[in-house]
Amino acid sequence: MRLLPLFLTSLAVAAPIAPKKAEPQKPLTAAQKADFTKVIQPIFDAHCISCHGPKKEKGKLRLDTLEATLKGGKNPTFVMGKADSSMLLARVFLERTAGDVMPPKAEKPMTEKEKEAIYAFVEGQPIPDELSKAALTDTKTAVAEAKNAPKPKK
Ligand code: HEC
Repeated sequence: MRLLPLFLTSLAVAAPIAPKKAEPQKPLTAAQKADFTKVIQPIFDAHCISCHGPKKEKGKLRLDTLEATLKGGKNPTFVMGKADSSMLLARVFLERTAGDVMPPKAEKPMTEKEKEAIYAFVEGQPIPDELSKAALTDTKTAVAEAKNAPKPKK
C-alpha cells in the first residue's frame, strides 16, 4: 500500500494535461508574489484577460489577479513548483496548430520569452532578470501593436 502514492505520481507525469484534483498550494513567497505582479500579470493582461478577466470568464477561469490565477477555472491551473503537471503550462506550450492552445489559434501568439517567464514562475524559481526584461519588452510590443490594430469584429 505504501507504494501507491508513488505510482500515482508517475501517472500524473504521464498525463500532464488533465490533472483531476486540485493539489494543495503552498503560500507563495514574497519574491514569487513580486514576480507575478511585475512579470506574469502584465503578460496575462496583454494575452489572456480579454477572455479570462472581468468581462469574460472562459473555462470559468480568470487570470486578472494572483488569487484568481491560483484558484483556477474548471480545472486547476498549476501548483507552484510542479511545472510538469500544470494544465495552464501544457496549453501555453502546445503547438500553435493545436485546438487547445492558449491563447487560441486566432489570437496573437505569445513569444518564447513570455512563455519561458511563465514556465520559470510556475517552477517556483525566481524569474531571471534577463528573462523578465526580454519578456516584458515583448509584452509591451504586443500591447502597442494591439492598440494600433483595427478593432476586431465581434
Ligand atoms: C480569445 C479568447 C481567449 C484568450 C485570449 C485566452 N483564452 Fe484561455 N480559454 C478560452 C476558452 C474559450 C476556454 C474554454 C474552452 C477550453 O477549455 O478550451 C479557455 C480555457 C483556458 C484554460 C482551461 C481552463 C479550465 O479550467 O479548464 C486555460 C488554463 C487557459 N484558457 C489559459 C489561457 C492563458 C494562459 C491565456 C493567455 C496566455 C489564455 N487562456 C487566453 C479562450 C481564450
